[in-house]
Amino acid sequence: MPQLSVIVPTFNELGNVVELRNRVAEALTGIDWEMIFVDDNSPDGTAQAVREMAQADRRVRCIQRIGRRGLSTACIEGMLASSAPIVAVIDADLQHDERLLPKMFELIQGGDLDVVVGSRYVESGGIGNWDSSRAAFSRWATQLSRVVLKADLKDPMSGFFMIRHEAALACIKAGMSGVGFKILLDLFATSPTPLRHRELPYEFRNRVAGESKLDTNVAWEYFIMLLDKFTGGVVPIRFIAFSLVGGLGLVVHLIVLAGMFKGMGTSFLWAQSGATLVAMTSNYVMNNVLTYRDMRLRGWSFVRGWLSFVVACSVGALANVGIADYLFHKDSFWITSAIAGVLVGAVWNYAVTAVYTWKTPKAG
Ligand code: GDD
Ligand code: MN
Repeated sequence: MPQLSVIVPTFNELGNVVELRNRVAEALTGIDWEMIFVDDNSPDGTAQAVREMAQADRRVRCIQRIGRRGLSTACIEGMLASSAPIVAVIDADLQHDERLLPKMFELIQGGDLDVVVGSRYVESGGIGNWDSSRAAFSRWATQLSRVVLKADLKDPMSGFFMIRHEAALACIKAGMSGVGFKILLDLFATSPTPLRHRELPYEFRNRVAGESKLDTNVAWEYFIMLLDKFTGGVVPIRFIAFSLVGGLGLVVHLIVLAGMFKGMGTSFLWAQSGATLVAMTSNYVMNNVLTYRDMRLRGWSFVRGWLSFVVACSVGALANVGIADYLFHKDSFWITSAIAGVLVGAVWNYAVTAVYTWKTPKAG
């Protein structure tokens, strides 16, 4: 039975996986290990390359997920597939220093620790040559994490760590967010008992092959994860995202409404209807990119999705316009009338489109 499972999330890492396996194998000489790649059906054929490796080395396995995306959920599924008492998570792109693994393993085997973190922000660790804006953003995001982080961790954003399997399992059962990139922070913020931890320095390397998947959405997902942890996970995570998008939609709505009603002198009923249609479309686009990123609709599905969004929401829109118009004619102020209508519509929209436009979210 393996003593250590090394979990490797991959998306388009064809040029790196063989090299990573070789380096990890060398670093872990003398330790009984296995390597679980979790690939989200990369178009470059990463999963196939991993399966070919697995044919030559039983210690290598591939979990290929279809129709799913996400670094954190990939790591969670890799952990769940492990039978070893200790699991490590390492990026496939060789940016994390695999030579740290034996030291991490030794420390955690000592029995006094649950987690050992590969850290860029402790003495003699480093971020390599990141440009100053990414370095500044990373530092700022690290500061922000203190809102939900109960531990004194210098690098809670690290994607390189080792954890006791039972500790990870306890977190997963307690309900992790699983959103975005920051699985370590998610673990620490979710753990039912404080995680005993230690940080080991390493220097973040440059990526040689392939491209980073970090984009502006990662920042949004990070923010959503913090909100989820901050609110104690009471509100469904997609509803949080949907509501934030709805908030932006409300701004769009009020601008269009004011422009038509106040600016162009359109009747209130028409102005509210026009504003609803514009806000509905912009909400659809934003939700597709942000809230349902992992099941984003493209091409014809995007058009079909927009149609179903509009159809499914038309009941909500009718309620919206009806209620707003009713309140307005009962001598309510025009803005409060509009907001009341939008709120009723929003709850409808979320419930109905979750089922009809983006289908029911899958577990995990
Ligand atoms: N399965 C799967 N699904 N894997 C993914 C996905 C996904 O949607 N997105 C990214 N990955 C994999 C990549 O293939 C790579 O192996 C690893 O996750 C990290 O992705 P990068 O795009 O290279 O991220 P990064 O280098 O900007 O940031 C990494 O290092 C930071 C410092 O430790 C991440 O691990 C960050 O979380 C971490 O803070
Ligand atoms: Mn990387």
